Amino acid sequence: MRKLFLFFIVAVFSLSLSAKEGMWIPTLLEKYNIEEMQEMGFRLTAEDVYSVNQNSLKDAVVIFGRGCTGEMISDQGLLLTNHHCGFSNIQSHSSVEQDYLSDGFWAMSQEEELPNPGLTAKFLDRMVDVSDSVFAGTSGLEGDSLQAKLNENISRIQREAAEDGKFEAVVKPLFYGNQYFLYTYLVFQDVRLVGAPPQAIGKFGGDTDNWMWPRHTGDFSIFRVYANQDNEPAAYATDNVPYRPKKWLPISLDGIQPNDFMMLMGYPGTTQQYLPSHAVELIKNQSNPDRIKIRTTILDIFSKHMAANPKVRIQYASKYARTSNSWKRWKGEIRGLDRLQAVEQKMAFEADFEVWYMQNDTLEETYSPVLPQFEKLYVDLQPYDKAYHYYQEIVFKGIEIFKLADFFPRNDRGWNRMDEDHHELVRKALAIKVTEYFDDYDQETDQELFVELLRMLRNDLDESFLPEELMQMLSRFEDEKLIRKVYAKSVLADPEKLQQIISEFDGKSIAKLQKDPIVELFQALKGYYQRNIELVHQGIQENIKTVQQKYMKGIMLMEKNFQLYPDANFTLRVAYGKVEGYQPRDGVNYRYYTTLEGVMEKYDPEVPDYQVPERLRHLYHAGDFGEYESDGEVPVAYIASIHSTGGNSGSPAINARGQLVGLNFDRCWEGTMSDIMFDPDQCRNIMLDVRYILFIIDKFAGAGYLIDEMELVSE
Ligand code: ARG
Ligand code: GLU
Repeated sequence: MRKLFLFFIVAVFSLSLSAKEGMWIPTLLEKYNIEEMQEMGFRLTAEDVYSVNQNSLKDAVVIFGRGCTGEMISDQGLLLTNHHCGFSNIQSHSSVEQDYLSDGFWAMSQEEELPNPGLTAKFLDRMVDVSDSVFAGTSGLEGDSLQAKLNENISRIQREAAEDGKFEAVVKPLFYGNQYFLYTYLVFQDVRLVGAPPQAIGKFGGDTDNWMWPRHTGDFSIFRVYANQDNEPAAYATDNVPYRPKKWLPISLDGIQPNDFMMLMGYPGTTQQYLPSHAVELIKNQSNPDRIKIRTTILDIFSKHMAANPKVRIQYASKYARTSNSWKRWKGEIRGLDRLQAVEQKMAFEADFEVWYMQNDTLEETYSPVLPQFEKLYVDLQPYDKAYHYYQEIVFKGIEIFKLADFFPRNDRGWNRMDEDHHELVRKALAIKVTEYFDDYDQETDQELFVELLRMLRNDLDESFLPEELMQMLSRFEDEKLIRKVYAKSVLADPEKLQQIISEFDGKSIAKLQKDPIVELFQALKGYYQRNIELVHQGIQENIKTVQQKYMKGIMLMEKNFQLYPDANFTLRVAYGKVEGYQPRDGVNYRYYTTLEGVMEKYDPEVPDYQVPERLRHLYHAGDFGEYESDGEVPVAYIASIHSTGGNSGSPAINARGQLVGLNFDRCWEGTMSDIMFDPDQCRNIMLDVRYILFIIDKFAGAGYLIDEMELVSE
């Protein structure tokens, strides 16, 4: 009996100390997490992770580009992130003749590093809870006047914190606007490409393996942040110098053991942990299936043309990856939500919520309207949400020539009000946009998208969202032969003619451009969408937001004895867990790591996703692993029970001693519902083992000089 009891305690104990749901606020670790982190093995203090007074780990972590994380790995501004995060930059330096996607790229000296206009690295200077200042003077206000006051306060806080342009300052809501934090960033604009492995390493497994375990993708690339002579952010200039960061991560060669403490620091984008059951139902039964269906068509068309034409293969590589990524995640999400019976769990929680607010009259008065309001709002939302996604996926994202049509001014009114200097600016900006557009454009592919996607729009959407006049217009585009004619006639399909028009752009040519059949069709669809779908959709969403804020406030009160974490909102978070495998289904046990051996097992010269560069095969057969092996194996990737999401790509995986041991790049398929509901049994994040990164840099690429720059440590 006693033994059993002891066993029970140990089992419960170890469960609570392994998988760990949550993306935590770095400044609140001391209050909420550090004790648990240390029990799980962490040897540093909360102050070592985030400090206002001294350099801390947070000073090594950056926002890379628009949606990824990166980290400093040398005192010379060397930045590590994922291959898929640097992908569009690597692609932009590539052509059929000089194909860095296929061959990889390694600068052998700083002179050879490649600048990337538009790419930034943002260092967080500080984050502060500014809730009091944001809410100041708002009590008693409601609706628009409340929003106006909040906006006024937020603008003032941001303006003051920016210190005349020194920082980018952003105030962001947490817990659906029940709390606000200010974030200030130093934004570096000169970020150069240093190295990227060939796709056959950096994207090994491609979209087949994406979101899957066991995984063998060497998903990393290396950049360098440059600063002016005073070590400050500056626009690209040849005499800029490598940035000397406040903090960079030492790299451990000691490897990873099961149950090791593991921490991610990074910028998770979006999660929705506090949705009501109605919302989960809508996502699972309508928005995900609809978007999956549309994108399946898009991806099939991409594949066909990419396989037939090497130029299209490069042009559409990034588009394909982007389109397929969410497509596959949505599928995993449906499966995971079903498996967890997420809707039922949410309903059970809602029942608890009702019991909770019934305990006294004030609570009841405040919170009893919440669930019925949700119910009504989601019923209202449902048809509009369908139309919204169809228009978004087809008209605004799918058919490419519509994007081009959208570049141009709709009428000459605005144009006639501008002076000639402005006209010149607009012409220049348009010329650049159009050039970039055609760089990655294939007309054959797009024509097919045009036919198939518009057919889908006509067939699937309720006629209340496609009025008679639009239907008539669309019916003119049904026939594939006709489309060819339309494309042939449209100036949008003729880059030279279009650039000519732009260079002579005036009020008259704007009016004429609007008569182009494709522009006309696009404007009709867009106009209808904006007037009849978007406005209503947004209106309902706004109302949902108001109810969600109240619901969140209630949940925070109800759960006040538990730590709650705010949904991800692309601000710096700390997440932690343990290195551990999992059982994806009955009878299958996943080990926590993979090796180079597995790369060779997957190798298939016939399959594009499973190519292995000859040099890597050679290193493997020769057993030439340097100091990067462990018991004769080269580790490649590993998993841990850490709660992560999109935006965490490129996040450093940090061990108990605060050293870099891995690079986050994905999640496992079975756990992709963690954006909505986390399951400690099934949710695992996927990281590269840092030793594989070093092995590729040193042994494969022969860029060992980069390793000399890093701080390698071993206990
Ligand atoms: N699934 C990872 C993430 O969400 C990797 C995506 C890039 N790779 C790809 N094959 N599409 O971003
Ligand atoms: N690959 C994702 C990203 O780009 C990370 C995977 C995830 O969603 O967890 O951020």
